[in-house]
Amino acid sequence: MTHHFRFTGRSAAFSLSLVLGFAAAVPARAVEEGGETYREAFAGKFLVGAALGRAVIEGRAPGVQGLAARQFNAVTAENDMKWENLQPEEGRFEFEVADALVDFAAANGMQVTGHVLLWHQQTPDWVFEDEHGDPVGREPLLERLETHIRTVAGRYRGRVHGWDVVNEALNEDGSLRDSAWLRILGPDYIAQAFRMAHEAAPEARLIYNDYNLYQPDKRAGAVRLVRELKAQGVPIHAVGMQAHYGLTHPEDMADVARSIEAFAASGVDVEITELDLAVLPFPEGSDRGADLDENFALQEKLDPYRAGLPEDVAALQAARYAELFGFFLDHADKVSRVTFWGVTDAGSWKNNWPMVGRTDYPLTFDRQGRPKPAFHAIIERVRAGN
Ligand code: XIL
Repeated sequence: MTHHFRFTGRSAAFSLSLVLGFAAAVPARAVEEGGETYREAFAGKFLVGAALGRAVIEGRAPGVQGLAARQFNAVTAENDMKWENLQPEEGRFEFEVADALVDFAAANGMQVTGHVLLWHQQTPDWVFEDEHGDPVGREPLLERLETHIRTVAGRYRGRVHGWDVVNEALNEDGSLRDSAWLRILGPDYIAQAFRMAHEAAPEARLIYNDYNLYQPDKRAGAVRLVRELKAQGVPIHAVGMQAHYGLTHPEDMADVARSIEAFAASGVDVEITELDLAVLPFPEGSDRGADLDENFALQEKLDPYRAGLPEDVAALQAARYAELFGFFLDHADKVSRVTFWGVTDAGSWKNNWPMVGRTDYPLTFDRQGRPKPAFHAIIERVRAGN
């Protein structure tokens, strides 16, 4: 089973713990109390979605597919539309799992966001190397990018409704991240990728996606980027705010609303693309974002809730979730989708990042797939109206 999980540069323990993360089964009968659903509660406001990991897509996480289909009207592949999974070797495309996700979405009336066409992570080394293992030149790399985007976005034309075209191109100070894409192609690689995506899937919504976009400096960088792209006539329709948050960050939650307003003012919609709200502390030295390169050794004192989520912590989390959804609802004319990064706490990536093997509770359904206080607080917030 572990061979299904491929993580560039990650340890076997990491994939093993992910597999074990799904061992706690969601009972097939776990229908949400009161029959409340995100789909229905947020109808007419914005789409509410979830990322589905491979175990969910392949039906190996009991009950989770049903829960997802009842609750959500949007899905994203947590890993299975990333380059390392779609084109692990040059010219060898593997679409099986991605196809299954797209079929699941169609069968359940869900919109699909493709994640992701260009990123510096989870992209195989061959992409950036020539036949001698040296850095590949600009022209061949552009050709590889074009082939990848044309093949992938073209295959799902009309079935994947939006694409995260470029992910995480910015540093915390708002400048362009030093990645192989930037080094080899130069700063216009972003414009190139959006143009290629538009060519391959002209109806798709095209998204620039990043983490920590609530931070003023990074927000300013993203606004500059969007304005430059639009000034050049590049098709870009939304900024995706990943929104991997916690109990103490964003420190000023209103920064989230300020970013939504700033992006809307630069002429694009906002999609909340990867929402979760971790209850575990970040280790000293972390950027508190979502940089996959961070990988801290397990510290037991930073894993305090192995036996269960204390009620007061669940209540604090619920209050923060409700506050966030308040901002999203206040800006429902600008926010077109809010997607959680996972369905249940059991399957969340936060159990293994930035530290492998912790027990986190970042989502709104518990390890058995039952709604948490956060779910009820969010539903109450939308029922209360604006
Ligand atoms: C994460 C997945 O959730 C993990 O399963 C995987 O091991 C690493 O990637 N930002 C992104 C997502 O854009 O693709 C990342 O997803 C989380 C951070």
